[in-house]
Amino acid sequence: MTSKPWSGRFNKGTDKLVEEFNSSISFDKRLFRHDIMGSIAHARMLARVKIITKREAERIVGGLKSIEREIASNRFTLTPDMEDIHMAIERRLIEKLGALGGKLHTGRSRNDQVALDVRLYLRDEIHEIQLLINRLKGTLVDVAKENLDVIMPGYTHLQRAQPILLSHHLLAYYEMLGRDHERLEECLKRINIMPLGAGALAGTPYPLDRDFVAKELSFSKVTDNSLDSVSDRDFCIELLGIASILMMHLSRLCEELILWSSQEFGFIELSDAFSTGSSIMPQKKNPDVAELGRGKTGRVYGNLMAILTTMKALPLAYNKDMQEDKEPLFDTIDTVKGCLKVFAPMLKTLKIDKDRMLKATGGGFLVATDVADYLAMKGLPFRDAHHIVGMVVAYCIKRGRGLGGLTLNEWRGFSSAFNKDIVDVVSVKASVDARDIKGGTALKRVKRRIREIERDEEN
Ligand code: ARG
Repeated sequence: MTSKPWSGRFNKGTDKLVEEFNSSISFDKRLFRHDIMGSIAHARMLARVKIITKREAERIVGGLKSIEREIASNRFTLTPDMEDIHMAIERRLIEKLGALGGKLHTGRSRNDQVALDVRLYLRDEIHEIQLLINRLKGTLVDVAKENLDVIMPGYTHLQRAQPILLSHHLLAYYEMLGRDHERLEECLKRINIMPLGAGALAGTPYPLDRDFVAKELSFSKVTDNSLDSVSDRDFCIELLGIASILMMHLSRLCEELILWSSQEFGFIELSDAFSTGSSIMPQKKNPDVAELGRGKTGRVYGNLMAILTTMKALPLAYNKDMQEDKEPLFDTIDTVKGCLKVFAPMLKTLKIDKDRMLKATGGGFLVATDVADYLAMKGLPFRDAHHIVGMVVAYCIKRGRGLGGLTLNEWRGFSSAFNKDIVDVVSVKASVDARDIKGGTALKRVKRRIREIERDEEN
């Protein structure tokens, strides 16, 4: 048992069990750099408003920097009895500087300190996640460009629906990731607000210069209500919500890679370097990376639920319950970064079987809509056209034939609106090219979108 900074009021030491139960240092130690960064700004501010002298601030800053080096190089061992990273660093500072170390916490509480640390930490992590998102977006564009005109079936209800370009399909994920990136940017605005000065909950009686601290730490502004400053975890929940949506997107990509690499589809083959084998079945090559990405999505959703539930109905202001925000938060960040990191090279290295993709567009009457559109453009109401083509399809199914093989006479048996140009309509390439509308799958449009993306990326 070590003596606690708050031991003045207590007659008995903390029970060993409580010490372990209460301690968050095993996980909040990852905040040490941000904790020190915040303390340095606080110390400089204390000198600025003359609560401590300049010389004292310099010594405190020096002490904090050497503690940072000690922790980074594992020379300062963090143990559970230190309770949390904030107290561990403060205790070490007092060990180093004596009474002067005890001045650092003037006008500050761990409640506003931890809020500051998490904001500083998340700001950095979000930037990293955004970089990884950009890398994956770049990979999607690269793979789309390498396979610009590869035609595949597009699906609805997982039934072959209409022919599309693989590049168009890949760029759908580009759009999703773009929104994820944007959401993170939005969330950053609410994270980038400086809570220090709230004290335990009510503000502090010291003439602290909150704006100075905000400027030192590159925050855009300071918080407006001390109670809210120490009890707000919206930004954590928001980030977890964004992470959940991001993982949902990745899980859909995972699912497609899993399906496409199955023998039933055979559209792609994952590189050996991004697949694993079976310990019993020698022939197996499994898409474990994609499966894990899909699976980890559940864990991230769980983390969101965990913090939401922890925060539910908590009275203002700080409650120790809130220490429970950290593990789900950290786990989410690690999980999201881990997935984004491995997905870019997994996509980059997969092999695409374009013949197999094209072949899959052959069966299944994928151009039936185009035939209906053909009739509608000749003046038939779309509903009638739809009905007629339905009958053509039934006719073909019964005879085991495809739309491409029908003679003009056969077509005209269904409607006199059919002419010999119908042969130009019943090809998958024509079907793709016909979707020449903004956002459509026509090669021209996909190329244009890629040019736009590349232009945006340059700016
Ligand atoms: N370890 C605590 C947390 O993460 C820091 C704040 C503790 N404040 C307090 N008054 N016990 O929430």
